Amino acid sequence: MKILIIGSGGREHALALSLSLSNHVDEVFCCPGNPGIQQIAHCTPIEVIDFKKLANFAQENRIDLTIVGPDDPIAGGIVDYFEEKNLRIFGPRKDAAKLEWSKYFAKEFMLRRGIPTARYAAFDRREHAIAYAHSRKLPIVIKADGLARGKGVAVVNSYDAAVGAINACFEGKFGEAGKLVIVEDFIAGREASVFAICDGENYALLPTAQDYKRLMDGDKGPNTGGMGARSPNPYISPAILRRIEREIIQPTLYGMKEEGRSYKGFLYVGVMLTENDDPYVIEFNSRLGDPETQVVLPLLECDLFEVLWQATEGNLGYFKGQLASAELSGNGAAVCIVMASQGYPEKIANGMPIRFKVGFSLGPHSQLLDKTGDINTETAKVLLFQAGTKLDNNRNLITAGGRVLCVTALAANIEEARLAVYKAVDKIDFAGKQNRSDIAS
Ligand code: AMP
Ligand code: GLY
Repeated sequence: MKILIIGSGGREHALALSLSLSNHVDEVFCCPGNPGIQQIAHCTPIEVIDFKKLANFAQENRIDLTIVGPDDPIAGGIVDYFEEKNLRIFGPRKDAAKLEWSKYFAKEFMLRRGIPTARYAAFDRREHAIAYAHSRKLPIVIKADGLARGKGVAVVNSYDAAVGAINACFEGKFGEAGKLVIVEDFIAGREASVFAICDGENYALLPTAQDYKRLMDGDKGPNTGGMGARSPNPYISPAILRRIEREIIQPTLYGMKEEGRSYKGFLYVGVMLTENDDPYVIEFNSRLGDPETQVVLPLLECDLFEVLWQATEGNLGYFKGQLASAELSGNGAAVCIVMASQGYPEKIANGMPIRFKVGFSLGPHSQLLDKTGDINTETAKVLLFQAGTKLDNNRNLITAGGRVLCVTALAANIEEARLAVYKAVDKIDFAGKQNRSDIAS
């Protein structure tokens, strides 16, 4: 089988690694990819939203299955485009992906279907949004309806800040995405990322994860795309996971099908677990999370390709004879640390050489090799997923983006993985690097 992965981040690197290790997969291609992915796949510089070129590429290279990483192409309808050309692709069609690209649609859907989520109201007039915000208890959450590169959500602790956030939306800070504004009650609790591989009707759960969204230790500083992750999520017991399935995932798949928007693809449920362990949906995404993918996929015991292939066939209900709600088990635990550029998530500095301490180097299968015996012990393995990296003219690795590297350690438990991953982070250096020191502690 020949696989095409669309995207260029750490998530896509982890997808490429898992798929390249499948017995069914002969070749992995990636558009546009990055230097890390290039070590395990053929990379071709086609932009993720250039559907025509991507489809031609898939046709010319006889790709058997295409898998999409980021939200933009999915929201733009890449799945519809490929399917019209009889190209097999795993992901939701545009009308199903609306769960992510319209927060208003997602909220209304949850209300209709009795899926637990924070109380809200939606507005297309600024004065009404402001008046409603003043009627709610602080803190409150202001959300732009559409995709806003992860920046469209403001959790505010004062009415002045709420007005500021509402104004920013209506004044065009997020373009079209901010023409409709959701004002939502704040739900306190612990966040979890839950991923399901869906075939339109049935699903298979991936190991659970926790993302660390804030830039700085102690969950301080601005929101980012994610500064680290761990899997499994220690707060999600099997009993809570069953509730998330029954109260969220099953009614979502059932409801979407009933409304003529069958959901096929990765479904990412951002869950808030309250003090009483009640799960609420904070957001739906129609893709995998980044950096969660970098901890979830390396743990999988099964062959990811087989599951995705069965999902495109609509066969998950019969996947390996397991139940419709098969849980794909993970082996041990993983912790990922994101190493970001100076200035991230605002204005960043690019082009810094990335250096490994003596005795450390990049190895096959995206492993960080260690001649000193310091990090690769018998009990831990360290993977280096690349995100914002580039090769300069001398073929040296340099920084080229906000989130540069995602260092993941796999071990028997979270604590061992945490110790190993931080030792590894210590072996990698570039000017201005920023990373949290409290992930998984
Ligand atoms: P989103 O872009 O929807 O993932 O939102 C970004 C972050 O805002 C989430 O990860 C949560 O930490 C926070 N958030 C969003 N909605 C709520 C809510 N209703 N209550 C508490 N926190 C929220
Ligand atoms: N890590 C959060 C996301 O991928 O949206």
